[in-house]
Amino acid sequence: MEVIIVPDARAGGELIAEGIADLLWRKPDALLGVATGSTPLPIYEALIAKVRSGSVDASRARVAQLDEYVGLPAGHPESYRSTVLRQVVEPLGLSPDAFIGPDGSASDVQAACTAYDRELAAAGGVDLQILGIGTDGHIGFNEPCSSLASRTRIKTLTEQTRVDNARFFDNDIDQVPHHVITQGIGTILEARHLVLLATGEGKADAVAATVEGPVAALVPASALQLHPHATVVVDEAAASKLK
Ligand code: F6R
Repeated sequence: MEVIIVPDARAGGELIAEGIADLLWRKPDALLGVATGSTPLPIYEALIAKVRSGSVDASRARVAQLDEYVGLPAGHPESYRSTVLRQVVEPLGLSPDAFIGPDGSASDVQAACTAYDRELAAAGGVDLQILGIGTDGHIGFNEPCSSLASRTRIKTLTEQTRVDNARFFDNDIDQVPHHVITQGIGTILEARHLVLLATGEGKADAVAATVEGPVAALVPASALQLHPHATVVVDEAAASKLK
């Protein structure tokens, strides 16, 4: 695992967008795995700026979703499908056909999870997976104690994660779904390159446990230590508890 400390979130976004630009130069139809939440926004903004300035050609790029709420009506603005379309797919000028994700409104959720794992494999696997990290060390929505070998499946959000995400739902925790579909840790580890961005002091404990603690289901992000090509990009605040 390589750890790169950058001055701030903007610099982290720029660095990772540079890495994606390199990948798209080598492999124009690369499959980019994208996370949602606040942290990756500077990555998407930097990448979109490169595409708009003509320095990066992302016209053949493909995008794969990491996770999704269960039970939000199709087209809900806070579903992760809507969010990724709005923040990544549309601004990059990609067709919705270049975008795959799990179906959070399926009547048989477990079948939708299995189908998504199959779809990821059929697409050739994720080339570069962007990850954020929860204050409790989760990646995707693999909350503490998730199996490190887990596949895409339904999970129950912890109270802490629902509190953290209430800001996307008018600060009303009652509107935050209780369940999500998430790529499992085993699924995430199949991506060829994992890039985790963590910014702000609130992530400092989770970053220290991920990078310097033992590999443990209690800290799902620590599974990155098992991956042959994992990059952790942290700003100085998120790096403040590293030894
Ligand atoms: C969401 C996801 C989550 C977030 C994490 C941090 O797709 O993968 O693991 O990355 O909850 O969220 P933010 O970035 O909003 O602090």
